[in-house]
Order: sequence, then C-alpha cells, then structure tokens
Amino acid sequence: MSPESHDEQPTDDVAVPARNDIEPAEPIENPGLPEHLPRPTDVDPKLARRAERQVAGMFTAAIVLALAFCVAYFTIPRDAEVFGWFSLNLALGLTLGLALFLIGIGAIQWAKKLMFDQEIIEMRHPARSSDEDREAALVAVGQGVSESGFGRRPLIRNSLIGAVAFLGLPAIIMLRDLGPLPGDKLFKTVWRRGMRVVNDVSGIPLRPGDIEVGQLVNAQPAILFETDSHGHALFHGTDLLQAKAKASVIAVRIRPDDIKPRKGQANWDVDGIMVYSKICTHVGCPISLWEQQTHHLLCPCHQTTYDLADGGKVIFGPGHRPLPQLPLAVDQDGYLIATSDFHEPVGPSFPEVEQNRD
Ligand code: FES
Repeated sequence: MSPESHDEQPTDDVAVPARNDIEPAEPIENPGLPEHLPRPTDVDPKLARRAERQVAGMFTAAIVLALAFCVAYFTIPRDAEVFGWFSLNLALGLTLGLALFLIGIGAIQWAKKLMFDQEIIEMRHPARSSDEDREAALVAVGQGVSESGFGRRPLIRNSLIGAVAFLGLPAIIMLRDLGPLPGDKLFKTVWRRGMRVVNDVSGIPLRPGDIEVGQLVNAQPAILFETDSHGHALFHGTDLLQAKAKASVIAVRIRPDDIKPRKGQANWDVDGIMVYSKICTHVGCPISLWEQQTHHLLCPCHQTTYDLADGGKVIFGPGHRPLPQLPLAVDQDGYLIATSDFHEPVGPSFPEVEQNRD
C-alpha cells in the first residue's frame, strides 16, 4: 500500500451534502401502550377470593408471630443456647423478622392481585401542581382508598389492622428492658480482697516480675477463669460478659519515682505496678493505647487521655472522671492480688456518681 493511501482526504469528486439539504429522518411512530390484559383475579371471582384468603392468611400469621415473640420474650431464659447461639435472640429475631416479612409480602400480593388495575400515562409538568391538580389528587387518593377495596374487603382490612396493631406489642414489652433499676450493681465489680490479677487471654496469674517498666498488660480477675467442682465455669453467657465489662483492667509499670498518687491511694501500687479499670469513664470504650514515655493512656473512641502516673487523671478529651484504680498487693505466693473492689464505680458516669463527686 502506498503511503498516500493512509492519508485519505475528501476530494472534489465526492459530493458532500449541505447541512440544510439533509432530509429530516422519519419520526418513529409512537407504538402506544400494549393491549391491557386483565389479571386472572379480575375475571375469575374464585381466584380473587383465593388471593384474598392468602393475603389475610399472611396477615393473620403475622399476628401469631407477634404473639410468639411476646411468649418467647417471657419464657426463654436469656442464657439458654441452641447450636451455640443465644436461643432467646434467635427466637425474637425469627418471630419479629417473619412477622414483618409476611406483612410486606401480603401487602405486595394484595396490590398485585386485588387492587384496582389500570395503566396510566402521566405527562411531565411543572414541579408544583396547579390548584386544580392538587384538588384532583386528593380526589384520586380518596378514590384509590375506595378502589383498593379497603371498605369492600373487611377480611383483609381487619387482618392487616390486627397485624400492624399486634406488631406494636414487641416494641412495648421491650420497654421492660429499661428496668428494673440496677440498685448497687453499678457500684460493684467481681473484684474482692485477695483475688489474683490474671492475664486476660491465658488466665495465668501475674507476678510483679512479669511486667517490665513501661509495659502494659491486659488483665482480668482470676474468678472469671475459675470452675466449680464439676469443671463448669463459674461465669458464662451473659453473666460472664457483664462481669468482664465491669472488671476488665490494665496493669502498667511505671518508675515509682514518677508516680503521683491520688489522695488516699498512696500505697495502691506494687513496685510501680498499678492496676486501673480498662473502661473509659466517658462512655465506656475499652482502652489500651498506651504511651510508655508519657504514661498517657488514650481512649480510641473520643480521645479522652488519662495520665496513669498522676492517679489516672483526665488530661484531654470529653471524659471528666479519673480512671478508677484498683488497690494492689502481693500474696504469699508472690502473685499480684487486689486488696478490695474498686472504691468508685467503673465506666461511664451516672447521676448518683455525679452527685457524690468531690
Ligand atoms: S468512650 Fe472514651 S473518650 Fe469517649
């Protein structure tokens, strides 16, 4: 191929039509709407009645499921498990989820099979409708209500009203979880005098020599790892989670000369080892971001920063209560032990704590 052939230019021999000479394309004929076919339920009253019974059946089943939710809530123990799942949560989730699902499916079936069936073309118009249109819309809504058969089909209407009304029950009975008042539970943890401080993963008791200066160790009270005479854990399920949520601690070691204890807490460390609550006093996140040079402990949630060398005082962020410290000693076998429970509530503040704050 010659080089010129790559460079084709229009020549005077090719007739290029002027823009005005181009014939407008034939407009495409509007095919219009396909023929409207009636649904089987429009022409066969038997099928319509069957669809009606199906929809009402779904709404009725939703009522039964809402009641089953209530029964499950009161009868299944919170700690009971099935296949390793908390069976109460499973039962509540299944009953409520299925009830909502059936109401949704019933409503779709009702609209598809029984409600007024007409295809409508609506032309584009300005965003605000004219007053006449708005009035017409209200009339159409009224007409829609009557055409939906809400008045004509009392079986569906009543079962739907029943299903929606009974769905309110789970919401109401769950208000019970707001009570009863916790009493002194928020003031206490499972820590007791003489209880060992153990590694939070292995459960191995800690000795002072296990923690180096500058180190932080996540820890728990030994009782959370203990078993009864049959080998069953003393704490399990919700009890274990609740006990852990309050009793989790961190053990840090700081040079004794750097420690400035809070008033009345002068001897709460063992050779510079101090044990603090792991639960942020802002809104309760677990904390362990530790800066060993500055002795600062940073909460990852909202950046409250505590100075653990200075009695756990808040030096930055939205928290405003120091991190509670656990008084510490060493038992006769050389392991770290608590000498009592915390002397103040752990975790986020609540009204009674704020009232008694100095
Ligand atoms: S929970 Fe720790 S700063 Fe908010």
